[in-house]
Parts: sequence; structure tokens; C-alpha cells
Amino acid sequence: MIKQAIIPLAGLGTRLLPLTSVFAKELLPINGKPGIEYILDECIEAGIKEVVFIISQKKKMIKDYFYKDSFYKNLIKKKKDSRINKEYKKILRYKKMIKFVYQNKPLGTGDAVLKTQKLIKNNFFLMLLPDDLIIKQNCSKSMIQVHNRYKSSVMASLKVNKKDVSRWGIYKLGKKINKKNYLINDVVEKPSINRAPSNKAVIGRYILPKKIFTKLLNQKPGKGGEIHITDAIQSLIKDENKFIAHNFSGKYLDCGSMHGYINSNLEIFKS
Ligand code: UTP
Repeated sequence: MIKQAIIPLAGLGTRLLPLTSVFAKELLPINGKPGIEYILDECIEAGIKEVVFIISQKKKMIKDYFYKDSFYKNLIKKKKDSRINKEYKKILRYKKMIKFVYQNKPLGTGDAVLKTQKLIKNNFFLMLLPDDLIIKQNCSKSMIQVHNRYKSSVMASLKVNKKDVSRWGIYKLGKKINKKNYLINDVVEKPSINRAPSNKAVIGRYILPKKIFTKLLNQKPGKGGEIHITDAIQSLIKDENKFIAHNFSGKYLDCGSMHGYINSNLEIFKS
């Protein structure tokens, strides 16, 4: 049963500077709704009951967004505004399911994941990267279905341009299970064009096993001096743990760059 999700939010967001020098990118509105709420709605619809946010002191405004009770209560007392009431109820619903842990130094996604170790209860959990929005189809929900069927780890997969492979984690795929799912033989973090085993990239939705924490505890920094989650996954695959790449049906939107962020607004407005 996948009932818990984790969301790393402690990165610096340098691609969205200067905005991110004062603002958490995950609260930026995408067609009028903060990006993080799309991610939370995806979790709720996929049956997730608890979400762990990995934030930092610099990104405390993300926690503040969900902890404005007295502000809302005073406002609602003064103004009988049904919209404010509705927004507060929505925030309360989110707040109830969120726990916070801190990663004050952005040492990499793997280090961020490690901060959640004490809170993870079951053998598998979901991880969502908030820069990656997937619309039109609930990617987490279909990945949970794949997990339930094959009892394995699952990662979202997308075909990207060969010339862009160095921006992504790239799969070496093995046996085809069916039209949408393949076994993963290897995954390489940001390879050069020559070294890329394919042009199938890891997108920010993962169903990971709890045993990844043991790998992360002993992991040395990789590319760029960061502790990457991809390196821990690569090591688990080498130990014969089953990982499936899932070709999701929804539309992928990259909100982590300015161009991608603007495009996401347009795409969601059109949809
Ligand atoms: P990225 O490295 O892709 O994004 O991290 P970033 O750091 O937020 O932004 P740029 O690249 O500087 O523009 C992917 C996800 O992992 C989180 C980020 O917040 C993002 O959601 N992350 C990254 C952490 O939580 N901790 C880290 O040490 C690194």
C-alpha cells in the first residue's frame, strides 16, 4: 500500500532567479493556483494520506502558507466572504496531511530524501518533484497501480531529445513488460550524449523502497558534489532490486525554468 509521499522542496531554485532570491518557486501561481497545490491534489487523488515536505529555513514561507489559521479566522469573522471560507477550508485540508522536515544545506536530492527516514512507515513510498507537473492524467495514480500489480519500484519515464540527455537521469531499459512498462537495467545521472544509454529520461515521480535509506546513508557525493537519488537507485538496481520505467499518458510540464514556467501557465490555461 502506498499511503505516504515525500516532496523535496529545499533546493535553491537558481534557474528562477531573481524571483527565488526572496520567494519559494513552489508557491508561484500557475494559472492562478500555487504549483505545490497541483502536486498535493495529484497525491490526494492517488489515495495518499500523508505527505512529508522537505523544506529549509530559507523556504519556511512554504510552511507559513499552510499555517495562517488566526489570519483566516479573523478575516472570516470580519467579512462574510464565502470565497475566503472556501480557500481556508482547502488550506486546512492540505495542512492536516502535511508533515515537515528540514534540510538546511542543499546537499542534493539523495540527502533531502534521507531526512524523511524516520517518518516512512511502509516498505514503499511515493516521491514527487514539484518542478515536474503532469497534467491531464494522474501519473502517481497509474504508477501506484503498476506497483500494486508488480510489487516493484516504479519511476516515470519520458522520451526526450537526444541533444538534451545531459539535463536528465537517463534509463538503460531492459525487458518490455507491456506497452507502457519496461524493466530498468540501469540509470545514469546527467550523462553526456556519447555515454547516454538511451533518450528515455527520469521524470519526477518515483515509487521507492524503504531500503533506499540504507544506500543513502553510505553514499558518497556524485556529479557536481551532490548526493543524487539517482545514484542510490542505480546501486539498488545493481543489487537486483526490480525497478520499472512507466511511460505515463499525461502531459509533462517543466516548471523549474522561466521558459518552462511561462509555458506551464499557458498549457494549463488552455487545458
Ligand atoms: P533541482 O536541483 O532540479 O532544482 O532539484 P532546484 O535546486 O530547486 O533548482 P535549480 O536547479 O537551482 O534551479 C530537484 C528537486 O529537489 C529539491 C528541489 O527543491 C527540487 O524540488 N532539492 C534539491 C532538495 O530538496 N534538496 C537539495 O539538496 C536539492
